[in-house]
Amino acid sequence: AIDIRTLSKNTGHFTFDPGYTSTCSTESQITFIDGGKGQLLYRGYPIEQLAEQSTFLEVAYLLINGNLPSEGEFKTFNNTITNHTMLHDKVESFFHGFRRDSHPMAMLTGTVGGLSGFYHDDQHTTEDEARNIAIHRLIAKIPTLAARCYKYRIGQPHMYPDNSLSYAGNFLRMCFAVPAEPYVLNPVIEKAMDKIFILHADHEQNASTSTVRLAGSSGANPYACIAAGIACLWGPSHGGANEAALNMLREIGTVDRIPEYIARAKDKSDPFRLMGFGHRVYKATDPRATVMRKTTHEVLGELGINNPVLEVAMELEKIATNEDYFVKRGLYPNVDFYSGIVLSALGFPTDMFTVLFALARTTGWISQWNEMLEDPSQRIGRPRQLYTGATERDYVPMANR
Ligand code: ACO
Repeated sequence: AIDIRTLSKNTGHFTFDPGYTSTCSTESQITFIDGGKGQLLYRGYPIEQLAEQSTFLEVAYLLINGNLPSEGEFKTFNNTITNHTMLHDKVESFFHGFRRDSHPMAMLTGTVGGLSGFYHDDQHTTEDEARNIAIHRLIAKIPTLAARCYKYRIGQPHMYPDNSLSYAGNFLRMCFAVPAEPYVLNPVIEKAMDKIFILHADHEQNASTSTVRLAGSSGANPYACIAAGIACLWGPSHGGANEAALNMLREIGTVDRIPEYIARAKDKSDPFRLMGFGHRVYKATDPRATVMRKTTHEVLGELGINNPVLEVAMELEKIATNEDYFVKRGLYPNVDFYSGIVLSALGFPTDMFTVLFALARTTGWISQWNEMLEDPSQRIGRPRQLYTGATERDYVPMANR
């Protein structure tokens, strides 16, 4: 018999790279990361400058189109996005199919995927115009869907989008306003929300972005591709880490308990890891974590919150970044380490954290999807495998086994 393990090894050359630590899957002009320097650029612009000086919608334009918009271009883009913020009335029925205590990421995955049933013209498309409409629809509708997940979960009626507000302002209002009651936006909080969205907008070929590209490479429709990205993001090693990080910090509770958790993180027989620490690409500071730490202080200061969890986080960072174990492995706080603290100060429950991440990352995902489809050399993604299973054998009838 032919040994099919040998056969599989002999059917062409390929790299064996579990976790794709050294496999480059695509060329891209969107986002640049220098993990050694702790640098993140969107289309060449440093994340720190964009977070401080830009707005999320301007960054969305930049990620999709490659350049910052002129005033006129931004106005048109803003109008286009606000034109698409409403959901089809039937989308509401999707929500009612979920139990009230469903995780909002489950609702978001389902409802975003379900949008493909509403926009048939966007399916299997390589046409520029249809692709653009899909891009605009997704960026416009994702805050409305995310806010709906929140409102459904807490049993409140949904709020319609207010297109006179900023992207972040409208989202905060859809989450925290109630019908017939005045809602006043705090500009410090609105800016913080916008910054958080900018920090999460794109991060080159991470697991969820690669998922979106892989799904899209078969020609699947964009809503289904984004739903696949959302599903991937949900995992605690990826977008779920902010929830896990805050839970961990709350569990630690007081600074005197930090050494116990540091010891556990270092102990190889204990599966525990410091959540919000470490990154596949950043082996120095995650620049997003630096902006996030500052934003956390700004928000807590504005709201007059004295949160003992922040004290634990800062002390944990101080201790861990001076420990040999973490330094040697290049383990520093990532964007998720502080984001949970600031998001809970803004009023979001922990299970909404990854939803907010997905909301912001939708812009990056759809930009990457678009870049892939614009590439004339684009082919269906198809990783290979190293087969290690049984060699060929004959079927044995059940009675003889
Ligand atoms: N705590 C303790 N030890 C850690 C941690 C951590 N958070 N992260 C990595 N290590 C150790 C590993 O045990 C391993 O040690 P070893 O070489 O002695 O075996 C070494 O550092 C390398 O770790 P890997 O798991 O191989 O690194 P990888 O690049 O595969 O994983 C990841 C990166 C998943 C982010 C990891 O650091 C981790 O699990 N961190 C905690 C979860 C987290 O914060 N995720 C958010 C990522 S950012 C984002 O998605 C936005």
